[in-house]
Amino acid sequence: MDYMVLVNRDHPLPAGWTEELCTVKSVNSAGNEVETEQKAYEAYLLLKKDLADHDGIFLELDSALRSIDVQQEIMDSFTVKYGKEAAAKMVAPPGCSEHHTGLALDLYFRLKNDDGSFRNVCSNEDLEKYPEIWEKIHARLARYGFILRYPEGKEQLTGYIYEPWHIRYLDNPEAAEEFMSKHGMTMEEWPGTAGNIMK
Ligand code: DAL
Ligand code: ZN
Repeated sequence: MDYMVLVNRDHPLPAGWTEELCTVKSVNSAGNEVETEQKAYEAYLLLKKDLADHDGIFLELDSALRSIDVQQEIMDSFTVKYGKEAAAKMVAPPGCSEHHTGLALDLYFRLKNDDGSFRNVCSNEDLEKYPEIWEKIHARLARYGFILRYPEGKEQLTGYIYEPWHIRYLDNPEAAEEFMSKHGMTMEEWPGTAGNIMK
């Protein structure tokens, strides 16, 4: 399996990908089942533990592997909510979402209430209110082989607005470190990817 596979509007999910995929199912704090590529899920668990132990951040998984039908449902609901043009900058066309690989993870987190109970912070609007938490999460991504896939200021290259929650597993901490240290380099800029715009 090519963990560095580039999937974007110009590069749909490669044929035969789903048939070769090994996945793990888990249940998040909202009670929803999430399916993730196996190694990406193991790396996510290490990231989650690290953040809980060192930063007091309680990470959760909102969405990972998605079928083309589910991606279409998301596109339809975003189109109703935000209009077609805005939705196109937030949701990938069905067949061209990185979520079809099982290697893209949408994160959310739980915050502690004053009484010690937890609340889920999971809508996009709420998640955007905590840049300081995202900064801490992003700082720990590379060591587990993850990158931030749609960084701030790279909208022209990725085609999507900044998504602090969408991370991508590369199975390669060194490559991930290089992406992340270059101030949010995107996969579209990576010399080894087929979609390299520099070519
Ligand atoms: N939100 C990202 C772009 C997706 O739909 O795959
Ligand atoms: Zn996502």
